[in-house]
Amino acid sequence: MLAKKLQVAPNSWAIRLSFQSLIGLLVAVLVIGAIYLTEESKQFLEEEAEDQASSTPHQTNNDSSSISQCDLFSGKWVFDNKSYPLYKEQSCRFMSDQLACQKFGREDLMYQNWRWQPHRCDLPRFNATALLERLRNKRLVFVGDSLNRNQWVSMVCLVETSIPDPMLKSMHTNGSLITFKASEYNASIEFYWAPLLVESNSDDPVIHRLPDRIVRAQAIEKHARHWTDADILVFNSYLWWRRDKMKILGEEWGRSADQNCYNETEPINEEGYWGSGSDPKMMRIVEETINGLERRGLKVQMLNITQLTEYRKEGHPSIYRKQWDPLTEEQLARPEGYADCIHWCLPGVPDVWNELLHAYIVSI
Ligand SMILES: *[C@@H]1O[C@H](CO)[C@@H](O)[C@H](O)[C@H]1NC(C)=O
Ligand SMILES: *[C@@H]1O[C@H](CO)[C@@H](O)[C@H](O)[C@H]1NC(C)=O
Ligand SMILES: *[C@@H]1O[C@H](CO)[C@@H](O)[C@H](O)[C@H]1NC(C)=O
Ligand SMILES: *[C@@H]1O[C@H](CO)[C@@H](O)[C@H](O)[C@H]1NC(C)=O
Ligand SMILES: *[C@@H]1O[C@H](CO)[C@@H](O)[C@H](O)[C@H]1NC(C)=O
Ligand SMILES: *[C@@H]1O[C@H](CO)[C@@H](O)[C@H](O)[C@H]1NC(C)=O
Ligand SMILES: *[C@@H]1O[C@H](CO)[C@@H](O)[C@H](O)[C@H]1NC(C)=O
Repeated sequence: MLAKKLQVAPNSWAIRLSFQSLIGLLVAVLVIGAIYLTEESKQFLEEEAEDQASSTPHQTNNDSSSISQCDLFSGKWVFDNKSYPLYKEQSCRFMSDQLACQKFGREDLMYQNWRWQPHRCDLPRFNATALLERLRNKRLVFVGDSLNRNQWVSMVCLVETSIPDPMLKSMHTNGSLITFKASEYNASIEFYWAPLLVESNSDDPVIHRLPDRIVRAQAIEKHARHWTDADILVFNSYLWWRRDKMKILGEEWGRSADQNCYNETEPINEEGYWGSGSDPKMMRIVEETINGLERRGLKVQMLNITQLTEYRKEGHPSIYRKQWDPLTEEQLARPEGYADCIHWCLPGVPDVWNELLHAYIVSI
């Protein structure tokens, strides 16, 4: 059950050990905590999937007995404007202007209507009440960069739209930590800004756009003390480790090739597609590191969302988001030049990352 906490004592080997794993946080989202599927819980997942199969028309699942062997991450995107979006952009009180693409003028809204369909089973339906029950008296903490904040905003929207009474939910900022609280459940869903996870000169939650990044690779304590008592931690810091030139102990890292997302309106439907931004070698390293952590008794679950996300080249804000600085005429003439192809519009792709996370949390 969820009770077993991640044991990370400051200055202990565990922190150094988790740092080694952080190198990999690449692939996607790592959920560290007491997340594991027991035989019983797999059964639970199965039943939920079967329920859903019988109650909703879009289900294609005719192999529901095998969800325990089902790879949730291998599948395809299906257009489904009956069940999606899971919430409305304008009704989420905590929506961010960086992600509110409709508000900032995007007119093709199909990006809100895609459902992830694993090949051999169905994702359990997102149930905010069931999730909050699981998170009662607990902290779910997302740690990382703006992409992880993107996922956190999605999670907050998914949950908060199920709590109509404004007295029963709150948002509170304290330095690098932002806390959403569902008071009826005493459940916290938090975001902690630590773009490189370890200590760096980009740690200020507002002023972090610096020409050079300098990190102290062994220094995670500064951040970790804010979340060592979290019940479930979600990491994702791949992007900042790859993007831009960055000094890491004297090494220079190259910029990854950008694929532009401007004008895209549909996902890629070529199955097995891998973009140039993905690095299978890095994935291998993460997998090995996670196995190493598990051998030492840490419960780690990897949500392998890299490929399913790559299909969604049309899901980015592109030019439809709040701009930090007024645009120059030159920029306006070349919109693809300032398109944001890193973050994801909401409602959209991160909602599905959270459906996957939800599937694991409700099953433990
Ligand atoms: C992630 O999922 C994709 C698609 O199913 C698969 O090809 C890849 O090997 C997986 N990677 C890892 C590290 O599990
Ligand atoms: C869903 O999409 C179909 C096909 O594009 C369209 O005919 C229908 O009106 C849409 N329904 C809703 C509720 O948007
Ligand atoms: C489900 O059934 C369809 C036809 O009814 C079949 O083509 C498909 O392979 C089946 N899928 C699985 C996962 O068994
Ligand atoms: C959501 O979960 C709650 C609590 O587990 C349950 O009572 C409710 O029936 C679920 N709702 C749906 C639509 O499955
Ligand atoms: C409320 O949740 C926090 C964790 O976020 C926990 O430490 C505290 O004990 C909980 N309060 C009650 C009354 O259970
Ligand atoms: C903010 O966080 C610090 C610890 O980092 C804590 O000491 C302080 O009490 C918090 N302030 C509020 C208002 O919660
Ligand atoms: C974007 O789409 C518009 C309308 O379809 C087209 O006129 C324009 O040339 C496209 N721009 C680019 C850079 O693809």
